[in-house]
Amino acid sequence: MNVLGIETSCDETGVAVYDTELGLLADALHSQVDLHAMYGGVVPEIASRDHIRCLLPLIEQVLGDAGIDRPDAIAYTAGPGLIGALMVGGGLANGLGLAWGCPVVPVHHMEGHLLAPMLEDEPPAYPFLALLVSGGHTMLIAVRGLGDYDLLGTTLDDAVGEAFDKTAILLGLGYPGGPALAALAEEGDDAAFKLPRPMLHRPSLDFSFSGLKTAVMLLVSKARDDGSFIGQRADIAASFQRAAVDTLVGKALQAAKREGLERIVVAGGVGANKLLRKEVAERFDGQVYYPRMAFCTDNGAMIAVAGALRLTDAH
Ligand code: KG4
Ligand code: ZN
Repeated sequence: MNVLGIETSCDETGVAVYDTELGLLADALHSQVDLHAMYGGVVPEIASRDHIRCLLPLIEQVLGDAGIDRPDAIAYTAGPGLIGALMVGGGLANGLGLAWGCPVVPVHHMEGHLLAPMLEDEPPAYPFLALLVSGGHTMLIAVRGLGDYDLLGTTLDDAVGEAFDKTAILLGLGYPGGPALAALAEEGDDAAFKLPRPMLHRPSLDFSFSGLKTAVMLLVSKARDDGSFIGQRADIAASFQRAAVDTLVGKALQAAKREGLERIVVAGGVGANKLLRKEVAERFDGQVYYPRMAFCTDNGAMIAVAGALRLTDAH
């Protein structure tokens, strides 16, 4: 069975075809980064309009690349996300489903991220711990099987990707901030500033990133006042990244130990962060799984594979 996956929850139009026997047949992504950059963040109305413009041509392209006229089923991101953007994908998915007479499956965006490593050559076996880190979510989930998810911890305020993005703005970097901040951090000393590791030493598996963001804000305003900002920017970026990664990895290890889980999946946009990938791999005794870099951030392939697994699940 092959499934057409459609992702339009935010600022990427992602389309892919996944075949349950043959794997990923085709995928394409149109990023709206250039459209939103001048506003310093995603403008929902611009996002919806661009999805309308790009989605159908991308679907035609991907079906052509996959060598099929029409798929056996369609999966689309039903939420969470920007409502107008979601409606573009949902409307088209349901319309095509009617026209083609095929099943249409709504997929939870975070389940798509969670199942993205299933696209790789050595997918994780159940059960595993998922550390889902994106622009809107920071979650620790005990995954015992498909659809059998136990939320162990989540953020009490900002998502970690949001903390990267807001810190990037404080440092004068553009949108999207996460990759730019990570690149700047490579030039800095991560021990230059002592920043808080929020909640790390508490038994709760929840996260909180607003205190870390405020600590960076105070550092930046002090550095701007005494004229040291430019010289210290990379050190601040590196110290922030280290504090955020230490917090994520510390909580993930705590969760894996508590739940007796021997596999960790790291997924979602912040899962593309090299320091995070390196630290989890080095500090965790068990096996670590990630999607390839391109499938950490939003994409159609993760929605296609999630839809295919849901459709073919025996339970
Ligand atoms: O999963 P995603 O593409 O969209 C959401 O579902 O939110 O994640 C986007 C988030 C943004 O906050 C972005 O800054 C962050 O992932 N991100 C990164 C990196 N690449 C993307 N954060 C840190 N380091 C990166 N290399
Ligand atoms: Zn996402």
